[in-house]
Amino acid sequence: MGKIVLLDDLTINKMAAGEVIERPANVVKELVENSIDAGATNIVVEVKNGGKTFIKVTDNGSGIEKEDMLLSLERHATSKIKKVEDLEKIYSMGFRGEALASIASISKLTMISKTKEMDVGNIIVITEDRVEKEEEIGCQTGTTIIVEDLFYNTPVRYKFLKQDASEYRYIKEWMEKAALANPSISFRLVNDYKTDLALNGNGQIENVIYSLYGKEITDNLVKVEYEEDNIKVTGVIGNTLIAKDSRKDQICFLNRRNIKNPIITNAADQAFKGATGIGKFGFFILNIEMPADYYDVNVHPTKMEVRFKEESKIYSVIYHAIKATMLNSEFLGNNEKTEKQEYIENEFKFLINDEKTENNEEIITREEERKVEYKFLGIIFKTYIIIEVEDEIYLVDQHAAHERLLYEQIKANYKNNINGNSQMMLIPDVIDLQHKEMEFVKENMELFKNTGFDLEIFGENSIKINGIPDLEYRAKTKNVFMDVLDEMTSNERTSIKDVEERFIATVACKAAVKAGMDLTKEEVDNLLQNLLKLNNPYTCPHGRPTTIKIGKEYLEKFNKR
Ligand SMILES: Nc1ncnc2c1ncn2[C@@H]1O[C@H](COP(=O)(O)OP(=O)(O)OP(=O)(O)O)[C@@H](O)[C@H]1O
Ligand SMILES: [Mg+2]
Repeated sequence: MGKIVLLDDLTINKMAAGEVIERPANVVKELVENSIDAGATNIVVEVKNGGKTFIKVTDNGSGIEKEDMLLSLERHATSKIKKVEDLEKIYSMGFRGEALASIASISKLTMISKTKEMDVGNIIVITEDRVEKEEEIGCQTGTTIIVEDLFYNTPVRYKFLKQDASEYRYIKEWMEKAALANPSISFRLVNDYKTDLALNGNGQIENVIYSLYGKEITDNLVKVEYEEDNIKVTGVIGNTLIAKDSRKDQICFLNRRNIKNPIITNAADQAFKGATGIGKFGFFILNIEMPADYYDVNVHPTKMEVRFKEESKIYSVIYHAIKATMLNSEFLGNNEKTEKQEYIENEFKFLINDEKTENNEEIITREEERKVEYKFLGIIFKTYIIIEVEDEIYLVDQHAAHERLLYEQIKANYKNNINGNSQMMLIPDVIDLQHKEMEFVKENMELFKNTGFDLEIFGENSIKINGIPDLEYRAKTKNVFMDVLDEMTSNERTSIKDVEERFIATVACKAAVKAGMDLTKEEVDNLLQNLLKLNNPYTCPHGRPTTIKIGKEYLEKFNKR
């Protein structure tokens, strides 16, 4: 007798479930997505024990006809596509027709449903592929699915679950994303009999964001509205004050489906660069809409991954959507709203070609555009410059601000390959270096040269400094050089871009005036005027805020308390 057998359906479904259903949150995702596909405007999710023992999803969607109820639990049973070509135009969340079959194979599943044409609904209960109950029941139009004792027959999977609170967190996180993607649907999440999330579904994403993130985040968001070649990008991006240490708050939906995609993250990283500080990630919640045949979602059963047909197009659109929003938003009393299209194009070209643009005039004109009026009030603690702009007071951290300014200047010189941006020293310094430091210098001569250091190798382990970047600063040359070297050799960098970025940031940091240094009125003026011209003056390159803003309104409120 041969050794090959055909697997039975239950086994096949359990195996398929392994791919899609890893934890209770995946069940919630599949059920809620079905409710969304059914056109529900009201979805209630109730869970117990982090979803391990009980998950109930109730919707007011289309409902399921009696004949379809059992069929919907079969593998490859779907109402969403009919033939393979339909995969090219999928706008529904589901299409594989396997979620319910998978869930039913690893739990006790109850389905209650009624369409609006039916007078009375039906209930079915299934365990281990056996129909335990099938009868009529009075209920509202829509569908309720109850999933009990998930993984009861797959003990290995069950063992890998985390504590209830952690499993619940995954559920909540997913629900939050569903709410962000569907502001017109009213969502409620009930955990162990307590309502934990309630969104009214009034259609405004701002309301959803406010409920989920609170006032501080909402106040630091800017709306995105961008369209190019049939691709529409809407949502919000966060300013530098709310940039984060992780990618947790980088959320992206493609035709309302939450996806993770490296092309999008890379494009966003590049667009945010310089605005978030090194090592920080820009905050964004973006809804991308495009024709379904621009991409393939049938890559992985969880549908979190997509493959774009034209990756460079997507990269470019996301980059431009974010960049344009950042540059066109208001800042610090500046009400100019110029389309800095040319500037964006140059940055983008630099980025994708990695070549240095010849034209350095453009940078100068850009910097001359803004003239901001402010009243200088003084300096406190030898650290904070206080100015008044319109109805607001700004405390500007002199070190962080100077650092930001130098960073932009060095970067501009570097990008535009402006030679001779060195300030020659009357008496060159000769410095002895450690082996590791010497290696770094030798390997990165170009980097030093392009940022304005004029160096000469002077014997086996010595270096002669003829010139340093021509910037306005008061630090000692040798110190700047040594500090930069120290920083660069004590932290490994991976990519060339990282090394460049960190190098420029370090030069800026080490050369900037420190807290506690006395500045003259001219120095303050010079610093502020130049700072305010920058597109992103909010933080120093490391992400520390340069400026704290206090509105008149705030003071008035404060006064009334
Ligand atoms: N809440 C619901 N309201 C109305 N119909 C539903 C609901 N849930 C499931 N269905 C019906 O049951 C079918 C099977 O659902 P299932 O989730 O297994 O597959 P799918 O959504 O088509 O594809 P996928 O496996 O990609 O989710 C759906 O195609 C739909 O017709
Ligand atoms: Mg589904």
